[in-house]
Amino acid sequence: MKGCIVDAIRDLVVEHFGQEKWYDILDGAGLPVGKTFSVGENIPDETVLAILNSMSRHLNMTPEELADAFGEYWVTVYTRKVYKPYYRGITNAREFLLKMDEIHRRVTTNIPEARPPRFSYQWEGPNTLIMTYKSHRGLMGIFLGALKGVGKLFNTPLEIEVLDGNRVRITFPNFSGEVDKPGGFL
Ligand code: HEM
Repeated sequence: MKGCIVDAIRDLVVEHFGQEKWYDILDGAGLPVGKTFSVGENIPDETVLAILNSMSRHLNMTPEELADAFGEYWVTVYTRKVYKPYYRGITNAREFLLKMDEIHRRVTTNIPEARPPRFSYQWEGPNTLIMTYKSHRGLMGIFLGALKGVGKLFNTPLEIEVLDGNRVRITFPNFSGEVDKPGGFL
């Protein structure tokens, strides 16, 4: 997986729990304490999963709590800072989610062997979207955590219903009662 994922995990841990905790997590994942990761490098998926497992143990969080915390941080803090141009001009949660497939394809275009998650979309009704997550990694928890993060980012109460292992039904608030507004960062 791209190094930016580990970079974001590290930022989250250091910001909220301190540098020492990050060293403990690296150690618990069987990695040297001084190990650094650059944003663009490819990190073996097993290494990322070992870091997430170690994080869950050291922070006493269930995998679901961890996925929610990471998903929210990823969308509301990290990518907002590191991939700022992708947020430009987007005013609501549905627009943002509909761009996700294209964004994941684009951010990894120049990275050999990158296998980003892909998404497909199917409208069931004016406010109801079936979004399918496609990744060989099967990180459905992180997908859900990031979706909840999108609701927080745009201050929109999204109803999210898991349909099966890779599909969710997202119900957006009525356009007439639109509360989506970018959080003043654009
Ligand atoms: C502008 C916002 C975003 C950017 C720039 C971005 C970019 C990325 C990048 C570069 C990766 C690593 C891909 C790889 O190494 O193969 C990734 C992983 C991931 N992203 Fe995003 N992402 C964004 C928002 C989202 C949102 C909103 C969701 C869910 C609705 C999401 C779901 C995921 C998941 C689940 C992964 C883990 C890798 C996998 O499942 O295969 N991302 N993203």
